[in-house]
Amino acid sequence: MNNLDYVTVATEIAYEAGALLEQYFEKRPAIEYKQEYDLVTAADRASEKLVVERLRSRFPSHSIVGEEGGGIDNNSEYVWYVDPLDGTTNFAHGYPVFAVSLGLLQKGEPIAGVVYDPIRKECFSAEKGSGAYLNNRRIHVTGTEVMEEGIYGTGFPSPRRHTNVNVHFFHQVSMLTHGSRRVGSAALDLCSVACGRLDGFWEFGLKSWDTAGGIILVAEAGGTYSDMYGGPYKIAGPTLAATNGKVHQQMLELFSEIFQGNYRVPLDPVSSYLADEE
Ligand code: IPD
Ligand code: CA
Ligand code: CA
Repeated sequence: MNNLDYVTVATEIAYEAGALLEQYFEKRPAIEYKQEYDLVTAADRASEKLVVERLRSRFPSHSIVGEEGGGIDNNSEYVWYVDPLDGTTNFAHGYPVFAVSLGLLQKGEPIAGVVYDPIRKECFSAEKGSGAYLNNRRIHVTGTEVMEEGIYGTGFPSPRRHTNVNVHFFHQVSMLTHGSRRVGSAALDLCSVACGRLDGFWEFGLKSWDTAGGIILVAEAGGTYSDMYGGPYKIAGPTLAATNGKVHQQMLELFSEIFQGNYRVPLDPVSSYLADEE
């Protein structure tokens, strides 16, 4: 089976899981908690069950890692990373931005990715070396050359949120560029970079299933990704920066300054802003 067939099968599965998510979305399933602030619903579990069953029947020798724990380790060089519902917090609150994400890695290298947004009926797909597509139309990253002239996405984790430093990065990027967005689905954020709706994206602490489907979209659409220090991003690495490529180095330079505690735009206590207005 070649990579294109992987994408074809993953697309079929993603459409089926997406339709299931849509049905659940209309019923507003109860919110359950994996841990404090870390939400899950019956839809996450049902979608994962469906995706894993379909993958196992089509690729019985492959390994599968699913967010809700339904995967299987076959000690294969092929590993599917499945986020059955990326954007659970949005979904659970009736905010219509979420997706199902499937990424296939061979010996640790992304070779196929499919991310499906059932609300917008948008299916993003890519296979290694063959470009990136949105509903079968070729997509490309933006041509923005100056970071300040772009718009960027990021996210904040649900669990362990109190130790997350991203608000410092969010502040600098928001103040220095056309703006930052916190959409609530890392998989869709990466697809937005791939199709030119965002010039870049970064986040701390993403898991393998959050990124495996989307990173190959970015690369095949002409973009670049790395960790936030400029080193290679390996699946489940602690930080991710993905851009159109042209602004990548500029973003890394800004991040390097922030890591060192140097802020181009100071983040002063609220009281100092109020004093200015008096
Ligand atoms: C979350 C989303 C969100 C990101 C979080 C992820 P989930 O995934 O991708 O955008 O900021 O870090 O955990 O829990 O909705 O699958
Ligand atoms: Ca996720
Ligand atoms: Ca999820």
